[in-house]
Amino acid sequence: MANMQRGLLMAGNWKMFKTRSEVEAFILELAPIFQKSPQVEAMVCPSFTLLSTAQKTIKRMGLPLKVSAQNMEYREEGAFTGEVSAIHLKELELRGVLLGHSERRQYYNETDNAINQKTKVALQYGLLPIVCVGELLEQREAGNTDTVVIEQITKALEGLDAKQIPAIVIAYEPVWAIGTGKVCETPEANRVCKLIRTQVTAQFGADAANALRILYGGSMNNANAEALLSQSDIDGGLIGGASLKVDSFAELLNTANQVMSQQTAAVG
Ligand code: PGA
Repeated sequence: MANMQRGLLMAGNWKMFKTRSEVEAFILELAPIFQKSPQVEAMVCPSFTLLSTAQKTIKRMGLPLKVSAQNMEYREEGAFTGEVSAIHLKELELRGVLLGHSERRQYYNETDNAINQKTKVALQYGLLPIVCVGELLEQREAGNTDTVVIEQITKALEGLDAKQIPAIVIAYEPVWAIGTGKVCETPEANRVCKLIRTQVTAQFGADAANALRILYGGSMNNANAEALLSQSDIDGGLIGGASLKVDSFAELLNTANQVMSQQTAAVG
């Protein structure tokens, strides 16, 4: 059973999909089918150019949905053509930013060191960093999953203070499960999330680690979400494909709400 004090976070990663009219239509359609005061924290992550559109439409509809970016540059300003900084994101009053997604690591050579710097700057600007980690298929097949994930976590969080850990979210996303339809088996997903919590305990202590939300990502959908979200160390989902359609995203949010309600009832 997930720890209800941490609560669940469901974040839709829209990647380089959706135009402005599609973002508006999505939010308008979601409004009547998503609860007004959900227990779950719900979020979408559109492209940079659509962040403002998403924010404005959500506000207009009074929807309890937060908006985060998919990446940012760690330097705050300067001659970095084409980049977007924490200052820009903060100005839009965003909730946070995805950092170190495997597609950024793979196609844009993002390093653990850059992810660490970005995490620190996001925190400095009050943005929630959602730091993504996860092993490649060949790393898993070679039996290196744990070593890879521990190293990514250690480096991403290097130099942070224990007090900052609750203001961060980690997303465990096995790279071979992203966009492939091959979900990581529920017990294994929970085992790796627990391993991350153990590593954070070693680095920052139990209080920090117990307050840290750890999401699972990689082909989460309506067939597997309930089982994943009911695990002891999985505190939500980072969802790509299944977040693109209003119906399936709404169903995922409602499933997360139900899991939270059941668990709150069981505890209380
Ligand atoms: P997926 O993507 O749900 O389509 O596997 C997850 C992600 O990339 O964050």
